[in-house]
Amino acid sequence: MVTGASGGLGAGVVESLRRAGMDVVGVDLRPDDSTTVSLDVTDSGAVEEFFDNVESRAPIDVLVNCHGVLQDLTDVADTPDAELSRVMTVNFVGAFHTCRAAASRMRERRWGRIVNVASQAGRAPWPGTAVYGASKGAVIALTQGLAAELGPAGVTVNAVCPGVMLTSMTEGAFLSAGGTREEAARLLQAKAESLPVRRLGTAEDVGSMVAYLVSPGASFVTGTTQNLTGGEQYF
Ligand SMILES: NC(=O)c1ccc[n+]([C@@H]2O[C@H](COP(=O)([O-])OP(=O)(O)OC[C@H]3O[C@@H](n4cnc5c(N)ncnc54)[C@H](O)[C@@H]3O)[C@@H](O)[C@H]2O)c1
Repeated sequence: MVTGASGGLGAGVVESLRRAGMDVVGVDLRPDDSTTVSLDVTDSGAVEEFFDNVESRAPIDVLVNCHGVLQDLTDVADTPDAELSRVMTVNFVGAFHTCRAAASRMRERRWGRIVNVASQAGRAPWPGTAVYGASKGAVIALTQGLAAELGPAGVTVNAVCPGVMLTSMTEGAFLSAGGTREEAARLLQAKAESLPVRRLGTAEDVGSMVAYLVSPGASFVTGTTQNLTGGEQYF
């Protein structure tokens, strides 16, 4: 199960897992094709119903949380309650709902893989992204806590922290920062050139990392946060 399957990175994860031979069910608030199912992860009842429904046919052995929203790029001092609530609810509470639904079922079956797509901002937010960063920091803590709880049951739980990946979310953020398309393109180019690998990340980069983390060979890898930043260092 992959959430945010219609998104730039989610679509890459779905493709990568299908290539690895898995049967994938993608879900999204706004499904963009016939294979993606409509699900709002902020609705805990709908999430439980979805798990029951799918699992009446086949177990969900792998959960990848790849849904998310970026915040309006504003300083904490200027952030209204509604924006705080929107970002925390989608990014953290939504991931909590799917993790909880998966955890109870995987624990019982004594096998499972959970990957939560967090963000570099979850560990090192830059100005204007403290709320988004806090929501992703909460996802990282959830990941670590779950890994400790579920390790004895053979379930691994890891977080992936992408840096700047080329998707519409990133283009929107750079447009907001740059003001014009030309300036946004210039900023993106400068960002790419500042990285050791001299390019921005892609959906395939995330898909490859997730495919490894959910593979049988990664059974000793749990409770980790994997940086996916093209070599940019942060703590
Ligand atoms: N693009 C980047 O540079 C970048 C960097 C770090 C982390 N991330 C994270 O990676 C994930 C995917 O990002 P993306 O770039 O593909 O963004 P995106 O906007 O292309 O995709 C996000 C998807 O999540 C879906 N979604 C939003 N709210 C939902 C809800 N309530 N229920 C179900 N689905 C919902 C959206 O409809 C969208 O299809 C997000 O968690 C994002 O925070 C992205």
